[in-house]
Amino acid sequence: MPFRASFECLWCGAAHTVRGRDDLEGWAQLCPDCVGKAGDNGFLRFRLRQALTERSATATPAAHPTAPTTASLDLHSHMIDYYEARAPEYDDWYRRRGRYSHGPIHDAAWNAELDAAGTWLDTRDFRGEIVELAAGTGWWSPLLASRGELSLYDTSPAALELARERLVAHRLRAHLHVRDAWAEPDRAVDAVFAGFWLSHVPAERLAGFLGLVRRWLKPGGLAAFMDSLDDPASGATDHPPPVEGRSTRRLADGRAFTIVKVVRDADALAAALRDAGFVDVEVTTTGRFFVLASARAG
Ligand SMILES: C[S@@+](CC[C@H](N)C(=O)[O-])C[C@H]1O[C@@H](n2cnc3c(N)ncnc32)[C@H](O)[C@@H]1O
Repeated sequence: MPFRASFECLWCGAAHTVRGRDDLEGWAQLCPDCVGKAGDNGFLRFRLRQALTERSATATPAAHPTAPTTASLDLHSHMIDYYEARAPEYDDWYRRRGRYSHGPIHDAAWNAELDAAGTWLDTRDFRGEIVELAAGTGWWSPLLASRGELSLYDTSPAALELARERLVAHRLRAHLHVRDAWAEPDRAVDAVFAGFWLSHVPAERLAGFLGLVRRWLKPGGLAAFMDSLDDPASGATDHPPPVEGRSTRRLADGRAFTIVKVVRDADALAAALRDAGFVDVEVTTTGRFFVLASARAG
């Protein structure tokens, strides 16, 4: 199918105009919302694969720093499927429940560091319009929603429903939408936050993703990230550690999924942010479990 700058989405019929010839949407003739649903829809996945092939036939890969390869599209959709299925048990990870408990000593350390991570996030300069990418069940969303006008995006409707309930319980409002974290920004905002998402960005796509975060931000806008450090007591007791950027995860019902998991330490994260053109880069850790990074769009 040829590239089209303006089209009606082949799946939902919505009119869409792309920003440029690099946009995968124009090759797939799918709107960004439907691209975000490709994980659980065979037709959309098929269209995306074709679009990738057609686009790469006309340009060099370097022209598409954020583009998935055909192989990475499978991992991309496995991860979407995994987190949709995991949504009801996701907060067990934060709460150290069931398979995520590592005994009182490790769990006490975890809880103390989780508190420290929350305190760190609370000291960031969130204000104005805030976008939370891959927001999941919204563990951090009430804090963000209390500081500005929050838009909360994720590919998992089940996770977003839990985030909505959490916000309602806090009597807070936000805009919640199913949206792929890789979808191009549709506006520039004051701040972007992503918790435990950068470790799901493959090494070869990190620069591309950080570039996308910069495009989300107004000049001087704030980017903040929280993520996992490499500690054996971080994940579930039946999860083997990641190998070469891939992790096999199990759900409570025994289903297994292979997903991207690239653990980056503070130095690696700081270097990646500087390389992507961010300024005022500050990266710290809570000790064993969490790496915390903030920076401004130059
Ligand atoms: C490790 S969880 C992090 C959730 C939340 N940010 C937090 O800090 O608890 C990763 C989240 O990424 C979402 N996700 C997976 N693939 C995605 C994609 N391509 N675009 C947007 N969200 C995605 C999952 O549904 C899941 O909620």
